[in-house]
Amino acid sequence: MIDIVLKGVSKDFGKYLAVDTLDLTIKEHDFHTLLGPSGCGKTTTLRMVAGLEEPTSGDIFIGKHAVFSSKNLINVSPAKRNIALIFQDYALWPHMTVFDNIKFGLEVLHIKKNEVKRKISRILENVHLEGLEKRYPNELSGGQQQRVSMARMLVIEPKILMMDEPLSNLDAKLRSSMRSEIKRLHNNIGATTIYVTHDQEEAMALSDMITVMNNGKVQQTASPLELYDHPENIFVAGFVGNPPVNLLNGRVIKQGLQKVLINSDFLGQINIDNIQNVTLKKDQSVIIGIRPEDITLYSSNPDKNSAEATIITILPTGSETLVEIKLGDKIISAKVERHNSYEINTKVYLAFESHSIHLFDSESGRRLN
Ligand SMILES: Nc1ncnc2c1ncn2[C@@H]1O[C@H](COP(=O)(O)OP(=O)(O)O)[C@@H](O)[C@H]1O
Ligand SMILES: [Mg+2]
Repeated sequence: MIDIVLKGVSKDFGKYLAVDTLDLTIKEHDFHTLLGPSGCGKTTTLRMVAGLEEPTSGDIFIGKHAVFSSKNLINVSPAKRNIALIFQDYALWPHMTVFDNIKFGLEVLHIKKNEVKRKISRILENVHLEGLEKRYPNELSGGQQQRVSMARMLVIEPKILMMDEPLSNLDAKLRSSMRSEIKRLHNNIGATTIYVTHDQEEAMALSDMITVMNNGKVQQTASPLELYDHPENIFVAGFVGNPPVNLLNGRVIKQGLQKVLINSDFLGQINIDNIQNVTLKKDQSVIIGIRPEDITLYSSNPDKNSAEATIITILPTGSETLVEIKLGDKIISAKVERHNSYEINTKVYLAFESHSIHLFDSESGRRLN
C-alpha cells in the first residue's frame, strides 16, 4: 500500500504555529481533501508532503519510505517524491503551443517521439481539449488554460496528485464541470489525490475522505456524509453544510441511561438519545444544533417537538427555498419545498425530530450524542 502518513507534523513560521502536531493518513487511491477556512494551514500541509516546505518537526511517509523525519534527519527532495502538483494559478508558457506546453512536462522522462505524441493526444482527450494542440495560451479561455495545465501534470501519470484550490479562479459553471473532470481523471489514472479547498460543497462533491482543519489542527477526518451526519464538534458542524447549522443554547435537566433531557432556549424540553459515554451535570450548558433541512414548518400547531416563530425572509433558490424565521431573539434558517405559500411576517410552527439534533458541550465544543 502506498499510503501517505503524517505523524506529529508541525510547522512554525517564527513565532507563528501554522500547522500543529498533525496526524493524518491518506489511503492509497483515495481522493482526500483538506478543508478549512483561509489561513488554517492547508497549503502549508500540502507543501510539506510535496517537499517544498520543511516541517519543524514530525515524520512523513509515502508508502514504506520516510520522506521526512526530523529525528532521523531525512528530507527527500521534491523531485524524488513523485508527486504532481496543480496550483490555483495555471502558469503556462505563453510562447508555446498547447502541445509544447504539455510536452514540457514529459521532457524529464526521456521517452520516444511517437510515444510522446501518443501520450499527449490521450491526455488531451481526457481533459476534452482534442484539436486544440496548436493553439497558444492566449487563444484559450481560462478554463481551457486550466485544463492544459492539468494535462501537463497528468501526462506523466503521477501516482500522487496534489491540487491546491485549482478551481477558485474559474466561474461557477466551469467550476462545476471541472469538478466532474477532476473526479473522473482521479479515477482514470488510479491516483492518490490530496486536494485543498475552503469550499465545503466542492469538498463534499469530490472526496472519499475529508479532513477538516482549523488553526493548524485537525478537527475531524471522515467521509463526506459522516462529517455531515455526525460532526465531532461545533466547528465542523458549522463549517460543513449550507446554509450552516442553526445553533441554540440549552441546559441539562437530567441525564438517564444513554439519554438526556435538556431545556433549550425557545424550543422547550427535548429528550435526546444516544448520548456518548459522558457524565453531564444538572444545569450544565449545552449547544443544540439543527440543520435547516431537518426543520419542518407548519401553519398550525403540529402537536410534537415544535415552537412558534415568525417568517422574516423567503429566499427561493429554484430547487428549494430557504426561509428565515425569528424564534425568540434568534434567526433560524429552514429549507422548505420550492412550491410553498409562506409569506413574510406571518406565524409558523417550527418542528423537528429529536434524533436530528446535534448536541455539543458548550465549553469544549465536543459532540455529546
Ligand atoms: N512563508 C510564510 N511565512 C510566514 N507565515 C506563513 C508563511 N506561509 C504561510 N504562513 C502563515 O501560516 C498560516 C497558514 O497558511 P496556509 O497554509 O497558506 O493556509 P491556507 O492554505 O489554509 O489558507 C497563515 O496564517 C499564513 O499567514
Ligand atoms: Mg492555501
